[in-house]
Amino acid sequence: MNNIVIVPFNEKYIDDIFKISTMSFITPWTRKSTEEELQNKFARYVVAKLGDVVIGFGGVWLILDEGHITNIAVHPEYRGIGAGDMIVEALIEICRLEGINSMTLEVRKSNIAAQALYKKHGFIEKGIRKGYYTDTKEDGIIMWKFDLSK
Ligand SMILES: CC(C)(COP(=O)(O)OP(=O)(O)OC[C@H]1O[C@@H](n2cnc3c(N)ncnc32)[C@H](O)[C@@H]1OP(=O)(O)O)[C@@H](O)C(=O)NCCC(=O)NCCS
Repeated sequence: MNNIVIVPFNEKYIDDIFKISTMSFITPWTRKSTEEELQNKFARYVVAKLGDVVIGFGGVWLILDEGHITNIAVHPEYRGIGAGDMIVEALIEICRLEGINSMTLEVRKSNIAAQALYKKHGFIEKGIRKGYYTDTKEDGIIMWKFDLSK
Protein backbone atom coordinates (compact mmCIF):
# COMPACT_ATOMS: atom_id res chain seq x y z
CA MET A 1 0.00 0.00 0.00
CA ASN A 2 1.55 3.31 -1.07
CA ASN A 3 0.36 6.76 -0.04
CA ILE A 4 -0.03 8.08 -3.56
CA VAL A 5 -3.23 9.98 -4.35
CA ILE A 6 -4.64 10.93 -7.73
CA VAL A 7 -6.18 14.39 -8.07
CA PRO A 8 -7.67 16.26 -11.02
CA PHE A 9 -5.49 18.72 -12.92
CA ASN A 10 -5.29 22.20 -11.50
CA GLU A 11 -3.33 25.15 -12.95
CA LYS A 12 -1.06 25.17 -9.91
CA TYR A 13 0.46 21.90 -11.18
CA ILE A 14 1.58 23.23 -14.59
CA ASP A 15 5.22 23.76 -13.54
CA ASP A 16 5.49 20.28 -12.05
CA ILE A 17 3.92 18.64 -15.09
CA PHE A 18 6.24 20.58 -17.39
CA LYS A 19 9.30 19.47 -15.37
CA ILE A 20 8.25 15.80 -15.26
CA SER A 21 7.53 15.88 -18.99
CA THR A 22 10.99 17.34 -19.66
CA MET A 23 12.61 14.54 -17.63
CA SER A 24 10.53 11.82 -19.26
CA PHE A 25 10.29 12.34 -23.02
CA ILE A 26 12.79 12.52 -25.89
CA THR A 27 10.78 15.39 -27.35
CA PRO A 28 8.95 16.96 -24.41
CA TRP A 29 6.20 19.53 -24.69
CA THR A 30 7.29 23.16 -24.63
CA ARG A 31 6.08 25.27 -21.74
CA LYS A 32 3.53 26.92 -24.06
CA SER A 33 2.23 23.65 -25.50
CA THR A 34 1.99 22.25 -21.95
CA GLU A 35 -0.24 25.14 -20.91
CA GLU A 36 -2.37 24.88 -24.05
CA GLU A 37 -2.76 21.12 -23.79
CA LEU A 38 -3.71 21.22 -20.13
CA GLN A 39 -6.50 23.64 -20.98
CA ASN A 40 -7.77 21.74 -24.01
CA LYS A 41 -11.50 21.31 -23.39
CA PHE A 42 -11.47 17.79 -24.84
CA ALA A 43 -8.70 16.69 -22.46
CA ARG A 44 -8.83 15.42 -18.90
CA TYR A 45 -5.60 15.39 -16.92
CA VAL A 46 -4.83 13.92 -13.52
CA VAL A 47 -1.85 14.31 -11.24
CA ALA A 48 -0.29 11.76 -8.88
CA LYS A 49 0.89 13.17 -5.55
CA LEU A 50 2.91 11.74 -2.71
CA GLY A 51 2.28 14.09 0.16
CA ASP A 52 2.76 17.56 -1.33
CA VAL A 53 5.04 16.35 -4.12
CA VAL A 54 3.67 15.98 -7.65
CA ILE A 55 5.23 12.74 -8.88
CA GLY A 56 3.38 12.06 -12.12
CA PHE A 57 0.59 12.95 -14.48
CA GLY A 58 -1.48 11.54 -17.29
CA GLY A 59 -4.15 12.65 -19.69
CA VAL A 60 -6.80 11.48 -22.07
CA TRP A 61 -8.64 13.18 -24.92
CA LEU A 62 -12.34 12.42 -25.08
CA ILE A 63 -13.14 12.17 -28.77
CA LEU A 64 -16.72 11.10 -29.46
CA ASP A 65 -16.94 7.59 -28.02
CA GLU A 66 -13.16 7.03 -27.74
CA GLY A 67 -10.62 7.94 -25.10
CA HIS A 68 -7.12 8.69 -26.48
CA ILE A 69 -4.38 8.58 -23.87
CA THR A 70 -2.06 11.49 -24.69
CA ASN A 71 0.75 11.16 -22.17
CA ILE A 72 1.59 9.47 -18.92
CA ALA A 73 4.80 10.17 -17.06
CA VAL A 74 6.17 9.59 -13.59
CA HIS A 75 9.10 11.51 -12.13
CA PRO A 76 12.20 9.29 -12.57
CA GLU A 77 12.88 9.24 -8.81
CA TYR A 78 9.38 7.92 -8.08
CA ARG A 79 9.04 5.19 -10.71
CA GLY A 80 8.33 1.60 -9.75
CA ILE A 81 6.09 2.34 -6.77
CA GLY A 82 2.69 2.14 -8.41
CA ALA A 83 2.00 5.69 -9.61
CA GLY A 84 1.80 4.64 -13.26
CA ASP A 85 -0.77 1.97 -12.36
CA MET A 86 -2.88 4.49 -10.48
CA ILE A 87 -2.75 7.08 -13.28
CA VAL A 88 -3.88 4.54 -15.92
CA GLU A 89 -6.69 3.34 -13.63
CA ALA A 90 -7.81 6.94 -13.10
CA LEU A 91 -7.89 7.64 -16.85
CA ILE A 92 -9.90 4.47 -17.49
CA GLU A 93 -12.34 5.50 -14.75
CA ILE A 94 -12.72 8.98 -16.26
CA CYS A 95 -13.63 7.40 -19.61
CA ARG A 96 -16.10 5.01 -17.95
CA LEU A 97 -17.81 7.90 -16.20
CA GLU A 98 -18.04 9.77 -19.52
CA GLY A 99 -19.78 6.74 -21.05
CA ILE A 100 -16.81 5.92 -23.26
CA ASN A 101 -16.29 2.25 -24.02
CA SER A 102 -12.92 2.07 -25.78
CA MET A 103 -9.51 3.65 -25.35
CA THR A 104 -6.44 3.87 -27.54
CA LEU A 105 -2.88 5.20 -27.52
CA GLU A 106 0.42 5.09 -29.39
CA VAL A 107 3.63 4.01 -27.69
CA ARG A 108 7.22 3.83 -28.95
CA LYS A 109 8.27 0.35 -30.02
CA SER A 110 11.29 0.58 -27.68
CA ASN A 111 9.22 1.66 -24.66
CA ILE A 112 8.86 -1.73 -23.01
CA ALA A 113 7.94 -0.33 -19.57
CA ALA A 114 4.98 1.65 -20.92
CA GLN A 115 3.79 -1.26 -23.08
CA ALA A 116 3.88 -3.54 -20.02
CA LEU A 117 1.95 -0.96 -18.01
CA TYR A 118 -0.79 -0.69 -20.64
CA LYS A 119 -0.98 -4.47 -21.17
CA LYS A 120 -1.39 -4.92 -17.43
CA HIS A 121 -4.50 -2.74 -17.69
CA GLY A 122 -6.05 -4.67 -20.57
CA PHE A 123 -4.68 -2.80 -23.60
CA ILE A 124 -3.70 -4.99 -26.56
CA GLU A 125 -1.53 -4.30 -29.61
CA LYS A 126 -3.64 -3.66 -32.68
CA GLY A 127 -1.23 -2.21 -35.23
CA ILE A 128 1.94 -0.31 -36.03
CA ARG A 129 2.42 3.18 -37.38
CA LYS A 130 5.68 3.05 -39.31
CA GLY A 131 8.02 5.92 -38.42
CA TYR A 132 5.29 7.58 -36.35
CA TYR A 133 7.73 9.45 -34.08
CA THR A 134 9.29 12.16 -36.22
CA ASP A 135 12.23 12.78 -33.85
CA THR A 136 13.74 9.28 -34.06
CA LYS A 137 11.64 7.84 -36.93
CA GLU A 138 10.69 5.10 -34.50
CA ASP A 139 7.58 3.02 -35.11
CA GLY A 140 4.54 3.58 -32.91
CA ILE A 141 2.61 0.63 -31.57
CA ILE A 142 -1.13 1.25 -31.53
CA MET A 143 -2.87 -0.21 -28.50
CA TRP A 144 -6.58 -0.48 -27.71
CA LYS A 145 -8.71 -1.42 -24.76
CA PHE A 146 -12.19 -2.22 -25.99
CA ASP A 147 -14.59 -3.02 -23.21
CA LEU A 148 -14.07 -0.69 -20.28
CA SER A 149 -16.66 -2.52 -18.19
CA LYS A 150 -14.18 -5.41 -17.78
C1 LIG B 1 5.91 4.07 -18.06
C2 LIG B 1 5.87 4.78 -16.68
C3 LIG B 1 4.76 5.83 -16.71
C4 LIG B 1 5.54 3.73 -15.60
O1 LIG B 1 5.32 4.40 -14.37
P1 LIG B 1 5.66 3.74 -12.95
O2 LIG B 1 5.06 4.59 -11.90
O3 LIG B 1 7.10 3.45 -12.83
O4 LIG B 1 4.84 2.37 -13.05
P2 LIG B 1 4.33 1.46 -11.84
O5 LIG B 1 5.32 1.44 -10.74
O6 LIG B 1 2.93 1.84 -11.48
O7 LIG B 1 4.30 0.02 -12.54
C5 LIG B 1 3.12 -0.43 -13.17
C6 LIG B 1 3.44 -1.46 -14.22
O8 LIG B 1 4.17 -0.87 -15.31
C7 LIG B 1 5.08 -1.82 -15.85
N1 LIG B 1 6.44 -1.34 -15.66
C8 LIG B 1 6.82 -0.23 -14.98
N2 LIG B 1 8.15 -0.07 -15.07
C9 LIG B 1 8.62 -1.09 -15.82
C10 LIG B 1 9.91 -1.46 -16.28
N3 LIG B 1 11.00 -0.74 -15.99
N4 LIG B 1 10.02 -2.57 -17.07
C11 LIG B 1 8.94 -3.30 -17.39
N5 LIG B 1 7.68 -2.99 -16.97
C12 LIG B 1 7.54 -1.89 -16.21
C13 LIG B 1 4.84 -3.12 -15.08
O9 LIG B 1 3.81 -3.81 -15.77
C14 LIG B 1 4.31 -2.59 -13.76
O10 LIG B 1 3.52 -3.52 -13.09
P3 LIG B 1 4.20 -4.59 -12.05
O11 LIG B 1 4.94 -3.77 -11.07
O12 LIG B 1 3.02 -5.30 -11.47
O13 LIG B 1 5.10 -5.44 -12.89
C15 LIG B 1 7.25 5.42 -16.32
O14 LIG B 1 8.27 4.47 -16.55
C16 LIG B 1 7.57 6.68 -17.12
O15 LIG B 1 7.21 7.78 -16.73
N6 LIG B 1 8.29 6.52 -18.27
C17 LIG B 1 8.69 7.67 -19.08
C18 LIG B 1 7.51 8.30 -19.79
C19 LIG B 1 6.80 7.30 -20.69
O16 LIG B 1 7.43 6.49 -21.36
N7 LIG B 1 5.45 7.40 -20.74
C20 LIG B 1 4.62 6.56 -21.56
C21 LIG B 1 4.44 7.21 -22.89
S1 LIG B 1 3.37 6.24 -23.94
